[in-house]
Amino acid sequence: MAFFALWSYVLVGCFSISTAEIETFNLSALYPPKWEESPSQFSNYTSQNGKYVVNPWVYPERLGLYKILLSKTAKYFQRFGKDNEQNPLWGLPLQHGWQYSSGRLADPTRTTDCGYESDPLCISEDSWWADLNYFLCVLPVLGAVDSGIMGISSDQLVLLLPPKDGLRFCNSVSSCQSSYPETMKKWKAFYQNIQLPFTSFDDNLKYLWAAHTSTLEETLKKFEDRFVYYSNPEVEFEKAWCVSVDYFASLHLHTTLIRIHEFQRGLPSRILVNEDKIPFIKDFSDFQNIFLLGLDTLYKVDSASGLTQQRYPEL
Ligand SMILES: *[C@@H]1O[C@H](CO)[C@@H](O)[C@H](O)[C@H]1NC(C)=O
Ligand SMILES: *[C@@H]1O[C@H](CO)[C@@H](O)[C@H](O)[C@H]1NC(C)=O
Repeated sequence: MAFFALWSYVLVGCFSISTAEIETFNLSALYPPKWEESPSQFSNYTSQNGKYVVNPWVYPERLGLYKILLSKTAKYFQRFGKDNEQNPLWGLPLQHGWQYSSGRLADPTRTTDCGYESDPLCISEDSWWADLNYFLCVLPVLGAVDSGIMGISSDQLVLLLPPKDGLRFCNSVSSCQSSYPETMKKWKAFYQNIQLPFTSFDDNLKYLWAAHTSTLEETLKKFEDRFVYYSNPEVEFEKAWCVSVDYFASLHLHTTLIRIHEFQRGLPSRILVNEDKIPFIKDFSDFQNIFLLGLDTLYKVDSASGLTQQRYPEL
């Protein structure tokens, strides 16, 4: 346990950034890929019979949901800093942007062109990363719709299901509420909390992380069957990432724009292959190798002590 605490504090400490430093960042350079071109309002999506139709299996369309969410919640975080930089919801689209740029949204079975050169914006339903991210996008967004923050009513939004396995994905406030009642309740609690006039920044983070970890706990087990599509090092990394998220959550890691951008420099910039030996991956920086070693050690110790299995029996 001491190891995790130490390693996590080192990581968190690394990303303490002063206000003076924040001034020097060019924020728009830190946005996820294709942020500028993504929908910034519901009217940018196609509409049918007065409903907005969003296909969350296309990268800019999923990213647009985050972009609208970030802009609709900006006013609640204004007092913590300018330009929405302190909005803790940044963690979600930045993570999705990394998944996109590192090739993790592409079809891992390689039976389709989804996510490759001829169809680069396609998000594959067979991608483990894309599936979990679906819920880390749709549940927070639908929670916000249901809380009245998005400026539309829940029956005004239609989310398209992926072609093969649609039944695994809820796609409306009512279907997500019935499949994931605990998690939806937690996202709504987060939105209620941010609207309180005197809530602290740390309190917001507490509610955010509670909703985030609940989302993973409720959805992870549904996508174990995707692990077979990946190399052993990638599967190990996927599991280590899930376990680490709980530690980041317990430390209330700040999921603001600059911090997460810096933090993500440690993440692998491509899918791991069988030849990859942490921490000796040649095309990765020292920081990436150390970061991966830290995650892997955290996972091994957590798993050996039986903690992982208590939270995630499937890992
Ligand atoms: C900030 O970054 C964006 C995107 O990389 C670029 O277009 C813009 O010119 C930069 N602005 C400044 C002031 O450097
Ligand atoms: C979204 O709609 C607004 C207003 O019509 C427009 O200015 C903007 O360029 C659109 N954005 C995209 C990505 O289509």
